[in-house]
Amino acid sequence: MATEAAATARWLLLPLLSPLQSPHKQQQLIFAALLLLFFSSLQSLHCNAASGYNEQQEADRVAFLPGQPSSPKVSQFSGYITVNRQNGRALFYWFFEAQALPSQKPLLLWLNGGPGCSSVGYGAASELGPLRVSRNGAGLEFNKFAWNKEANLLFLESPVGVGFSYTNTSSDLTKLNDGFVAEDAYNFLVNWLDRFPQYKDHEFYISGESYAGHYVPQLADLVYERNKDKKANRYIKLKGFIVGNPLTDDQYDSKGLVEYAWSHAVVSDGIYERVNKVCNFKISNWTSDCNEAMSNIFRQYQEIDIYNIYAPKCNLAQTSRVAAFDHALEASDQEQFSRRIRMFSGYDACYSSYAEKYFNKPDVQKAFHANGNGMLPGKWKVCRIGLNFFH
Ligand SMILES: *[C@@H]1O[C@H](CO)[C@@H](O)[C@H](O)[C@H]1NC(C)=O
Ligand SMILES: *[C@@H]1O[C@H](CO)[C@@H](O)[C@H](O)[C@H]1NC(C)=O
Repeated sequence: MATEAAATARWLLLPLLSPLQSPHKQQQLIFAALLLLFFSSLQSLHCNAASGYNEQQEADRVAFLPGQPSSPKVSQFSGYITVNRQNGRALFYWFFEAQALPSQKPLLLWLNGGPGCSSVGYGAASELGPLRVSRNGAGLEFNKFAWNKEANLLFLESPVGVGFSYTNTSSDLTKLNDGFVAEDAYNFLVNWLDRFPQYKDHEFYISGESYAGHYVPQLADLVYERNKDKKANRYIKLKGFIVGNPLTDDQYDSKGLVEYAWSHAVVSDGIYERVNKVCNFKISNWTSDCNEAMSNIFRQYQEIDIYNIYAPKCNLAQTSRVAAFDHALEASDQEQFSRRIRMFSGYDACYSSYAEKYFNKPDVQKAFHANGNGMLPGKWKVCRIGLNFFH
């Protein structure tokens, strides 16, 4: 910003100083030029003092996270945005500026699904953010495929009760339907843009995966509706939304799950035929025959990672079920198993345990401006199960 102001001043000075008029006029012109230079340097001083970031933003800046690689530099911020003062609800965000020319790149909000899973743990630190938790939660590593090559990336832990986001009114946790969640996310956006006003005119996109197949379009719809009344509401420059692996409709999701399992030989022809015979997914209440047939499919996914069926399952996880599976694997073709591990080294199903290890470290939480007063009721979890979410 400072260099821009200086360049403008130079551009203005050149024509003014050309030797053309009477000495008197020239003096006037030089005086005018000096005045201009004075004001433009004042302006650049002002910009410098803020260096583009105000005090609150600097307070949210994450200088360095424990175990973060020293290069490349990552411009990141994190902290809480209050979405409801009365009940004391605050949502936690992690924001990465674009790697180059952030002032010219769009702003993209990312939401994970679950419902109940953390956008910090999954979206940011294992999928599309520039810093990913490394093996065993020892530190972070730079992700060369990070989406902040193209956009300013805003990860939101939503709703309250998920990740570092919290409420001081525990009865809020019984109200987490989609409308409530969208309203809080909308208030988050408005208040976040107050904290980072330099982004308020950027093109804005909403993105997410899984259950965010609900959250994303619902938030987009709310922004669209509120944008109609520019006087009453902040105008948000919404350009579009993207969803990946989205939950949209139970009927087609169930059908897809069955087709996928069969076409990838996760289940036999017999199981597939049985499901097709006894299940009608148009009816949300499955019959007991259908439940039983479907359980034959789900049972396979106790042993196969449903998100990456060809990858080895995590063998760190705590459950006895997984431990038993590991023993079985050890007993089978050891060489083949290690080949598979190498082949899929880009994908690590143990990821959740690494993230939980990392984000529960006190020095990480401190550097991250998270859980300042120990306001979280328990440990940070990559997914909060047991909260009652509903449509
Ligand atoms: C929640 O309560 C704590 C402790 O009183 C307070 O410090 C915090 O600001 C409250 N949170 C919100 C969002 O009001
Ligand atoms: C679904 O099944 C439950 C238990 O059998 C029953 O109480 C409920 O009314 C059913 N709902 C629908 C929509 O059929």
